[in-house]
Amino acid sequence: MALKNGKDFLSIEQHTTEDLRRILDLAKAQKPLARAHKLPPSHPGRVLACVFAKPSLRTRVSFEVAIRQLGGTSLYITDQEIGLGKRESVHDVAKVLSRFVDGIMIRTFKQADVDGLARHATVPVVNGLTDLLHPCQVMGDILTIEEHLGSVENKTVVMVGDGNNLANSWLTAAMRFPFTFVLACPRGYEPDERILQEADRAGASYVITNDPREAMQGAHVIYGDVWTSMGQEAEGQKRLRDFTGFQINDDLLADVDPSCIVLHCLPAHRGEEITDAVMDGPRSAVFDQAENRLHAQRAILALLMA
Ligand code: CP
Ligand code: NVA
Repeated sequence: MALKNGKDFLSIEQHTTEDLRRILDLAKAQKPLARAHKLPPSHPGRVLACVFAKPSLRTRVSFEVAIRQLGGTSLYITDQEIGLGKRESVHDVAKVLSRFVDGIMIRTFKQADVDGLARHATVPVVNGLTDLLHPCQVMGDILTIEEHLGSVENKTVVMVGDGNNLANSWLTAAMRFPFTFVLACPRGYEPDERILQEADRAGASYVITNDPREAMQGAHVIYGDVWTSMGQEAEGQKRLRDFTGFQINDDLLADVDPSCIVLHCLPAHRGEEITDAVMDGPRSAVFDQAENRLHAQRAILALLMA
């Protein structure tokens, strides 16, 4: 087994700091080779099934490209076909897919479905986003931070917005890496209670505040995400009202250090949670960040599918 704590990548907290560091190191080493089309095809013939119950640009394309760069290939399957847990049980889907493919990447709603798939599959399962977590995104984000600012250690990552799957994933990262995570969110939009408790138990350094201005103090990274995540569309109008004052704009950034970078996992709703001026401004590293999904995930696949 290539990673110490299991055959899968379901969450960041599942893995040791050492293994997470191995992923980042491999991603850094392979990035220039992949960009130059000089990566040796280390995983010939391997097939990755990419299962999607929600839309995607970055996750789909980066996983499909990553496995090809390793010499393998991919299948894109929508959950409309599979009907995970409805047309067929999670158990049976896991058993059947394990007979056909060498790895499964899944984006769906419930974390329990991804965990269940992993439990019953004999091949690696990678979490491509659930309502609870988006671990591959944050691995790519740490890679981006380290490229721009050096080690993530002792940095302060400030997310402005919803205590959603990204906020939860940042908290899990703060359990494994010594940086501080700050979330500025409206009241009622705090992260998952269980993850907060585990962050406390693990001694993670984090702050939750309702004041985005106060949150800016000492920021090395400002992080954005949509106010309405996939599956929450019915709450869209209420969220627009509730998140008033939580936009990442030039006014909010006026006093932050010039070296501070701005990240956004994308897709962005320009003009809502972030302005064009910030997205396209000198601090923005959002497209480096998007590219790094590919490099981080290729390293995860390479280690899991070894
Ligand atoms: N950031 C991200 O996961 O993008 P997609 O939803 O397009 O995959
Ligand atoms: N929080 C967002 C992230 C999109 C990549 C969502 O779940 O829709």
